[in-house]
Amino acid sequence: MREPWYRNAVFYELYLRAFQDGDGNGHGDFRGLRLRLDYLQWLGVDCVWLLPINPSPLRDDGYDIASFYGIHPDYGLLEDFQLTVEEIHRRGMRIIVDLVLNHTSDEHPWFQEARRSRNSPLRDWYVWSDTDQRYADARIIFLDTERSNWAWDEASGQFYWHRFYSSQPDLNYENPAVRAAMKDALRFWLRLGVDGFRADAVPYLFEEEGTNCENLPRTHDYLRELRTMLAQEYPDAILLAEANQWPNEVREYFGESDEFHLCFHFPLMPRIFLALARADRQPLVEILAQTPPPPPACQWATFLRNHDELTLEMVSEEERQYLWSHYAPRPEQRLNLGIRRRLAPLLGNDRRRIALLYSLLLTLPGAPVLYYGDEIGMGEDLRQPDRNGVRTPMQWEAGANAGFSSAPAAQLYVPPIADAEYGYARVNVADQRAESGSLLRELRSLIAARKGMAALATDELRWLTDAPPPVAAYWRGDDLLALHNLSGDTCEVMLPAGEFADALEQGASVTGALVLPPYGYCWLRLSNSA
Ligand code: GLC
Repeated sequence: MREPWYRNAVFYELYLRAFQDGDGNGHGDFRGLRLRLDYLQWLGVDCVWLLPINPSPLRDDGYDIASFYGIHPDYGLLEDFQLTVEEIHRRGMRIIVDLVLNHTSDEHPWFQEARRSRNSPLRDWYVWSDTDQRYADARIIFLDTERSNWAWDEASGQFYWHRFYSSQPDLNYENPAVRAAMKDALRFWLRLGVDGFRADAVPYLFEEEGTNCENLPRTHDYLRELRTMLAQEYPDAILLAEANQWPNEVREYFGESDEFHLCFHFPLMPRIFLALARADRQPLVEILAQTPPPPPACQWATFLRNHDELTLEMVSEEERQYLWSHYAPRPEQRLNLGIRRRLAPLLGNDRRRIALLYSLLLTLPGAPVLYYGDEIGMGEDLRQPDRNGVRTPMQWEAGANAGFSSAPAAQLYVPPIADAEYGYARVNVADQRAESGSLLRELRSLIAARKGMAALATDELRWLTDAPPPVAAYWRGDDLLALHNLSGDTCEVMLPAGEFADALEQGASVTGALVLPPYGYCWLRLSNSA
């Protein structure tokens, strides 16, 4: 059987507003994105994932949707979107868009109508209550801003339920009309040619007294219904789940290959940072041992960073404190249960450690998801509120506005990063494309090498248990051996019997002992294999 494309794809997450302004109003848009598709293709991206593009009052950067049927006016017209989809496909790439099922904006006409009165025909599209004591076992996710999952609606004299900001009322999935309406929203985007969806916050669709209101069986039932609809109407479309849960719980979102095609591996991500901080592979060994293989035609989606804070929900309290003190010593670097920083600054802008983590990402099981800007080592702007500090304009070149926009600087949605270390004069795509030893070029070579390696699409991984503890070395398939030195000291590894050749085609050939420099990595191939 042929591997489904997404099992071994490289995904690229991008915030459209931040990527490229094509009409000079200071906000990224579809016209701008089209100008940069050559870049994504050059990098080796297989599938682009766009953060929400719908009309929205932007109180959660678009995750507060005011209409499922349209494009935010800053981004262009629906025709612009369609043209972009066509251009992406013409280049042999694919596109998935964010699908926010759990909630809408409080400015969505459904909610406006629902809150009009208790007798509104749409009242039951949201979750209302006379008391704020129901579902008391559900945790609060946006801990730094929200005190309750209930908000008081003055006009109609009841509380409404919201798992995220109070400006994001949860839809009521008990209501068949809601379930049908959301299916129609999917169909709308599928008709426009999208290749699938990154489904936001899926564990929270249903509520049930006496539970934590996460991962409920009825939530899975509905998600399976969505998949069935896709299978019948758009069989090539994919669903990628954002379920920030433990591996055995996330496993349920694959179903019997009848729910999600891909699920983010949230518990793996912080353990990559933990392993590095402790110079010890053990956190990786343990989490992968607890990770069930995905069922047929499914895959984990792995990542180092994304548009949110680096969440530390899937680690112990002790590990969280350790990671906070190591990676976010300053209070303004922390947010909720996480760290609002980008990859390069998290790693002290140490080129060796950035490349090391990319090598782990590209050789561990799963389909890697890159976050825009991290491929060149962009920094964060902590003066921006919430998670916006990691959503600053893409740094294309050293010229005005980082090449992001031709608008006067004061019109940009936020200024590009301009400090001495991470500013666009120093960190930008143009320079790194031109310089053969740059991070960008190194990552691009890793991606290119990965594409030829069928073993990386499999779920199989065997640790080289003889390696010293700071070395994460593992076999993928029978002939690819990836080695990573998580420590700042030189490490020597005794290789298994056989003759190894450098799989990144840098020429070297080794037998016996291999010396890994501090934070060095290496991909080896048994040369006597086919
Ligand atoms: C997801 C998104 C996050 C958003 C939240 C509410 O976690 O990744 O950015 O704020 O859902 O939609």
